[in-house]
Amino acid sequence: MAFTLRPATGEHFAGRRVLMAEMLEELSDPASDTGFALVGQRRIGKTSILLEAARRLGEGQDGVVPVYFSVWSLLENDLEACAGALSAAVLEAYRPITGLALRARSLAQLPAAALRSALAHTTVTLSCHDIALIFSPRQGGDGIERFEKALGLAEGLALATGTKCVLFIDEFPALMDLTNNRTRCGAAILRTIRTLHERWSHTVLCIAGSVRSTMEMAALSPASPLCRQFIVREVGPLSRNEAATLLSGAMAVTDAEIDDIYRFSGGIPFYIQFLGRMISRGPPAPGDRIAAAAAAFLREEGNLLFRGEFDALSPKERLIAAGLARGHATPAALSRACGDRVAGIGRVLASLQEKGVAERLQRGVYRCADPVFARWICDRTGGEHFHPAPGDMP
Ligand SMILES: Nc1ncnc2c1ncn2[C@@H]1O[C@H](COP(=O)(O)OP(=O)(O)OP(=O)(O)O)[C@@H](O)[C@H]1O
Ligand SMILES: [Mg+2]
Repeated sequence: MAFTLRPATGEHFAGRRVLMAEMLEELSDPASDTGFALVGQRRIGKTSILLEAARRLGEGQDGVVPVYFSVWSLLENDLEACAGALSAAVLEAYRPITGLALRARSLAQLPAAALRSALAHTTVTLSCHDIALIFSPRQGGDGIERFEKALGLAEGLALATGTKCVLFIDEFPALMDLTNNRTRCGAAILRTIRTLHERWSHTVLCIAGSVRSTMEMAALSPASPLCRQFIVREVGPLSRNEAATLLSGAMAVTDAEIDDIYRFSGGIPFYIQFLGRMISRGPPAPGDRIAAAAAAFLREEGNLLFRGEFDALSPKERLIAAGLARGHATPAALSRACGDRVAGIGRVLASLQEKGVAERLQRGVYRCADPVFARWICDRTGGEHFHPAPGDMP
């Protein structure tokens, strides 16, 4: 095992045993039509879970075909591009079963006659008209129709091959920002998914997204057409034991050092991987190598990771975030710390929670959701950092 900054799969993937077992059992069951919605803060490991679940499903029984698609992989923010990329992912995943010789991306470049002959040699009937429509914007039909065809391709191939298609859509809330003829069409996309999802008998959808409020809007709240269509699971930090497995699998590390890394990272796997990588690659540092790596990490990576997010907050939100980062956990303490400069602290806290910056530990008690972000905020705004644990509550 070695440290990686990419989504972790295979031997790099640590922990998540209960969630992974639950997902694999449900998703590999041909009789189950239920998928999962994973919600969790940035860098917590959602993509890794989707990719690892897809990998294990692909390695398992023949009857399940996993397809992974990230909305963030799109170069353009429009629905036609999304339909094309989604179809390519589906066709690619089914290539070993359909005998399609050409890679899906090459199909998109073919003129009609060549496309027809490429599709003629497959073991299942693929509609040349549909595929031409999805890939070629000149064929008429609008983005929504293409998107419908792309989703229909998954169900059609699953039916034709007697398989179950598990379609993983990562960064799902980003679908809400796609445009069709330059107009945002998120609501129409969700309605389309809902309508097809209800009719599907061979395809199951699994989705993930990082900001709670956007996932709520897209899939979880009663206002979303997709409400109650998924098993919803919150992805949290790794446990101390999972972090220990990850770290000791990749370097020689003492228990006390694991404790220090765990405290710094809050169990967020990205920071564990990053620190581990810095420590194991860098020259041996004199003194406390964990503290040195943590300081270097904040200095070298902090601005890149956090400045955009912090600067996008309103001035009030920045003040309250800085108060939280110093360990002021209640509205009263925050109000004192901010010198009563912020009216409506409850509202500001709610919006910080929506943005994934703050989290509520219990009624009236809050903290920064990401302890490393909190530390960076303290460094930047000049102050002592204190990240309360649930046991430290007033
Ligand atoms: N189970 C795991 N075992 C080991 N490392 C992990 C695990 N999950 C995540 N990581 C590491 O954490 C980092 C972030 O992982 P990942 O990209 O899966 O998170 P994410 O929640 O999808 O992040 P984002 O919100 O940025 O999309 C990566 O460096 C990855 O290697
Ligand atoms: Mg991700």
